[in-house]
Amino acid sequence: MTRLTLTAAASALALMMAAPAWAQEAATTEAPAAEAPAAEAPAAEAPAEAAPAEAAPAEAAGLQSPEAIEGADDAARSVALFEEMGKVITHPRCLNCHPVTGGPTQGDDMHPHSPPMVRGSADFGPDGLACTTCHGSENVAYSVESGSIPGHSPWQLAPESMGWAGQSLADICTQIKDPERNGGRDLEALHEHMAEDGLVGWAWQPGEGRTPAPGNQEIFGALTRAWIDTGAACPV
Ligand code: HEC
Ligand code: HEC
Repeated sequence: MTRLTLTAAASALALMMAAPAWAQEAATTEAPAAEAPAAEAPAAEAPAEAAPAEAAPAEAAGLQSPEAIEGADDAARSVALFEEMGKVITHPRCLNCHPVTGGPTQGDDMHPHSPPMVRGSADFGPDGLACTTCHGSENVAYSVESGSIPGHSPWQLAPESMGWAGQSLADICTQIKDPERNGGRDLEALHEHMAEDGLVGWAWQPGEGRTPAPGNQEIFGALTRAWIDTGAACPV
């Protein structure tokens, strides 16, 4: 295992040290400025009731905790909770791997993957050029330029049935809840995926040169929990 991993990282590094034009270009065009909304909500406002000691941080970098999300009734609050989750779900860090058609995309502007990359029959790239040829088990910083090759094990494209890029939040929500299209998950399994999955978590540790998803996985998990507990309603 370790040796395989090292080999993948090494070949990725070797690729980088050869510094092909597409890599240099990609490394320099990444501008981590656009997102990062500067304190968009009043974070200072502490919750009125005494919060339990283990409570998740109230808010972190652009993602509100469930306690801050209100609604006229459970259904309305559930929709509002999903809309807050949507700040993560529709972030380029997720969408770049959840395209509806075509291969993976890159960067905050979601440009086509460079070098050109197709989905392949197993969502794992074309024959002979699997995603893991270049993507190792962790992010690898470029040796010459700033930036990095993202990595995590596993690393592959989400199946077409789970395509989100360009879809409305309402459609994404319906898909996410549909066991026929979500990998046979019930709501509990969905919560576990959002709260615990390492590939989802990568979006908050995306490597040098990439904007992390808003908030953190803990808040995202808590939002998912509250969304399910209020009936897992979808925006219309
Ligand atoms: C030939 C090498 C190579 C192969 C094969 C490859 N990638 Fe990449 N990929 C890269 C490099 C290099 C980057 C980083 C570009 C940059 O931002 O500097 C990258 C970036 C990405 C990103 C962008 C992450 C982000 O949010 O910006 C995604 C997603 C991605 N690859 C998915 C895949 C998937 C899925 C596959 C297989 C279907 C794949 N890649 C195959 C080299 C490769
Ligand atoms: C490197 C590619 C990659 C990235 C980045 C990625 N995913 Fe996925 N995602 C996948 C793959 C592959 C699957 C299918 C695996 C499975 O079903 O277990 C998947 C499945 C899912 C599913 C379950 C099926 C569904 O769509 O209903 C959810 C939910 C999900 N991802 C959420 C996210 C979120 C949220 C992010 C960003 C915070 C994210 N993913 C980032 C590759 C990725």
